[in-house]
Amino acid sequence: MQPKQNKAQTRHDKVAIGRTFGRAATSYDSHAELQRLVGERLLTLAGPVPLGRVLDLGCGSGHFTEKLTHQGHQLIALDLASPMLKFTRLRCPEALCLQGDADALPLGGDCVDMVFSSLALQWSQDLTHALIQLKRSVRPGGRILISTLAEGSLGELAQAWHQVDSQPRVNRFLSEESLRIAVASAGLNPAQLSFETVTLHYDSSLAVMRALKGVGATHLHQGDGHRTLNRHTLAALERAYQTLASSPKQLPLSYRVCYGVFTLD
Ligand SMILES: C[S@@+](CC[C@H](N)C(=O)[O-])C[C@H]1O[C@@H](n2cnc3c(N)ncnc32)[C@H](O)[C@@H]1O
Repeated sequence: MQPKQNKAQTRHDKVAIGRTFGRAATSYDSHAELQRLVGERLLTLAGPVPLGRVLDLGCGSGHFTEKLTHQGHQLIALDLASPMLKFTRLRCPEALCLQGDADALPLGGDCVDMVFSSLALQWSQDLTHALIQLKRSVRPGGRILISTLAEGSLGELAQAWHQVDSQPRVNRFLSEESLRIAVASAGLNPAQLSFETVTLHYDSSLAVMRALKGVGATHLHQGDGHRTLNRHTLAALERAYQTLASSPKQLPLSYRVCYGVFTLD
């Protein structure tokens, strides 16, 4: 069975996604609060892992590439955005840095002991297909650690936009059921999947959008809703978003995070 995701979806524009992340390479580290938190949690969930060759898929600016290298692993860092890889190279000269796409993995079979991929696979066109490729690249007995986003992520932002206009302003994410199906369809043990909601707070809707832009997570799969932003629209968004605040200047932005830790047969 295939997850519901991809059938009705337009093809993801990988050049545009890479360009948007690339533009954020210099600001990424100062806005990556969620990414740090989730990556650390993923490593904690995985527990101690034997040293070996590790693929950091969607490595971004290389924070976790560096961390895993310092633990003694040999790293392959792969990302769609070459400006992100420049930072990874600077941070971690010993890592092999490759520009590439999770949906067309440029790696052979059984070539790594572990895959670490934190908050990148939500950008994949077809999660099942991406997971099958990851599975192929990991040697028997190796591990795959992933975190990705599920439906409910950016929910407050979507809700606030919904009160302003009917344009698609926020990407949609796979439901938990679709994520479980994607994992099972890839032949990975679905029992090892967990979900948690992480909520960050910002003082304005502009701060929310700056934070998303800061990490490069602003590409919209359906059209470019950002082009039509003007002062009037932004003021309407701010009013709508403020109604969701738990206390003044505490605008919530929630992420439904999915963690998967798999050991291969
Ligand atoms: C939110 S960042 C996460 C970076 C890093 N894993 C971390 O936790 O800090 C997502 C990264 O995934 C990359 N990415 C997005 N789609 C990708 C794809 N299809 N293949 C490879 N990398 C991709 C982006 O360029 C970006 O650097």
